[in-house]
Amino acid sequence: MSYACLLILGFGGHARSVADVALSSGMPCLRFYDVSARVGEQFNDFPAIAILPKALPDGWAFLPAAGDNYAREQQLDWFAADRLATLVSARAYLGIGASVGAGSLVAHSAHLGPAVVVGRGAIINTGAIVDHESSIGDCSHVSVGATVAGRCRIGRRVMLGAGATVRDGRCIGDDIVIGSGAVVVSDLIQPGVYVGVPAKPLQRASAKDGVRL
Ligand SMILES: CC(C)(COP(=O)(O)OP(=O)(O)OC[C@H]1O[C@@H](n2cnc3c(N)ncnc32)[C@H](O)[C@@H]1OP(=O)(O)O)[C@@H](O)C(=O)NCCC(=O)NCCS
Repeated sequence: MSYACLLILGFGGHARSVADVALSSGMPCLRFYDVSARVGEQFNDFPAIAILPKALPDGWAFLPAAGDNYAREQQLDWFAADRLATLVSARAYLGIGASVGAGSLVAHSAHLGPAVVVGRGAIINTGAIVDHESSIGDCSHVSVGATVAGRCRIGRRVMLGAGATVRDGRCIGDDIVIGSGAVVVSDLIQPGVYVGVPAKPLQRASAKDGVRL
């Protein structure tokens, strides 16, 4: 990775985790973009800018860093595809034949087993495990400490909450949220929010608008 500067699209908690991985990988220069950044706002001496440049200066790359999967998906196209960075912590493990798509982050202490495929714009967060031959779809997020066992298929824009577990060989469809600590033991296809052990659709005690996910 030899960029003159990395433009991190976001200035929230996830953007700061991205910065930490970038700096520990030896990135010399960072900029954050946040439309509501105030003059002088910075993180670790690197400024946040509120106006997006029309084009990236020579040698710069960008990384989508919105925590929200849908927002991050939009950010993938903000600049030319050949400027899209991919960030893998030097303290992560990538097994033989594992691949990580453009615009994705693999954070510290994450573990990708052999032949794992991670799509574009995905987050494999701190300490997450994705085991052998599993796939993680575009713009999905495997949160801190979550575990995806071997030969699982995780769709696009899936949010696996902190510490969630997906049993080996299970499939999760697109646009599904798995709550923190849940254990997925069967295939989940219907978009929605699932929680608990085993993971079931979230039943809200007070359905303000009558909608039950
Ligand atoms: C599941 C989740 C998406 C629901 O969020 P929400 O729609 O805002 O739901 P609420 O917090 O209003 O909780 C709704 C109900 O679900 C329950 N609930 C929420 N999260 C739960 C979880 N992880 N497991 C079990 N029950 C949960 C609440 O107790 C509440 O129950 P009640 O209606 O009986 O009072 C969210 O709680 C969650 O787990 N998000 C993952 C966050 C995360 O891991 N981030 C990591 C970033 S690295």
